[in-house]
Amino acid sequence: MTKTSFKPRVFSGIKPSGGLQLGNYLGAIKRWVDMQGPNFETVYCVVDLHAITVWQDPAELAAGTREIAAGMLASGIDPEKSILFNQSRVSAHAELGWIFNCVARVGWMDRMTQWKDKAGKNAEKQSLGLYAYPSLMAADILLYHATHVPVGEDQKQHVELTRDIAAKFNHDYKTEFFPLTTPVIEGPAMRVMNLRDGTKKMSKSGESDMERINMTDDADTISKKLKKARTDPAPLPETLEGLAGRPEARNLVDIYAALSDRTAEQVIAEFAGAGWGTFKPALADLAVEKLAPISVEMKRLMADPAEIDRILRKGAERARAIAEPILARTYEIVGLQRG
Ligand code: TRP
Repeated sequence: MTKTSFKPRVFSGIKPSGGLQLGNYLGAIKRWVDMQGPNFETVYCVVDLHAITVWQDPAELAAGTREIAAGMLASGIDPEKSILFNQSRVSAHAELGWIFNCVARVGWMDRMTQWKDKAGKNAEKQSLGLYAYPSLMAADILLYHATHVPVGEDQKQHVELTRDIAAKFNHDYKTEFFPLTTPVIEGPAMRVMNLRDGTKKMSKSGESDMERINMTDDADTISKKLKKARTDPAPLPETLEGLAGRPEARNLVDIYAALSDRTAEQVIAEFAGAGWGTFKPALADLAVEKLAPISVEMKRLMADPAEIDRILRKGAERARAIAEPILARTYEIVGLQRG
């Protein structure tokens, strides 16, 4: 018997709510770029249906979808090597999401920490979509029979839920149709924190623009923000343990490490004992070198929305070619007739 060669398939998604910032790049996109190549088939999605689980201004949603796509392309997602598309162009996501709403249990959703954090005491005022969000996420992944899902630590629970949904579907319908997916969790350096408060995650929607690096920031802005980032007065320690309890310092070291493809230990070894007057300019120069070209390319792409749409449309066609037979088989297994 010949062994059929099997190329693992990677799926990941990013929400188009607000612009793209350094956390999205170092925490997700940079890694997705590195996974392209002979070892994996890579499918990357701008998850616009997820974005509307909270209110989105329609014009901003459309612009945000193109901005995220431009950022992915500018960062090195190659539409020849990867399938790049936006979720709403492939209606199978919503259809499989519905079936999974009928597989997943309310109790499972109640246990999702992201739901608990986001909904808080106001759960009754949230959209039903926000509650069911993880079930749509499971559909995103399983529609491609994806085996590897690179996500940040905060999404690990949702990928584990995806396994639970696949297992229950397989059990209920006495099939082995859906594979059990593995979350591929990023290393610790990948969680980029706020430049003004190192205990908070860098986000697209903070009060001050100085607390984040936007992927559209130009060289001067990137440099200024990093030089003005909050720190404590102590110099850099001799070892990584010396950064304990110093979240802002730790964050800048982690950013340096991620941008230079090194470990935080290596960065500390190089800068042991250095003051911020040495480290911050070095970090600013490195960040400008790595990020400014992405920002320039992103702006060039965003000036031509028709070209971005053309790429997303083509990606959606390729995505549909994989997703539709899987959805059709799912309908059959469930006993839904469409013929
Ligand atoms: N929930 C993810 C986030 O907020 C985005 C997402 C949606 C996703 N569908 C996905 C990530 C499928 C990985 C795979 O970051």
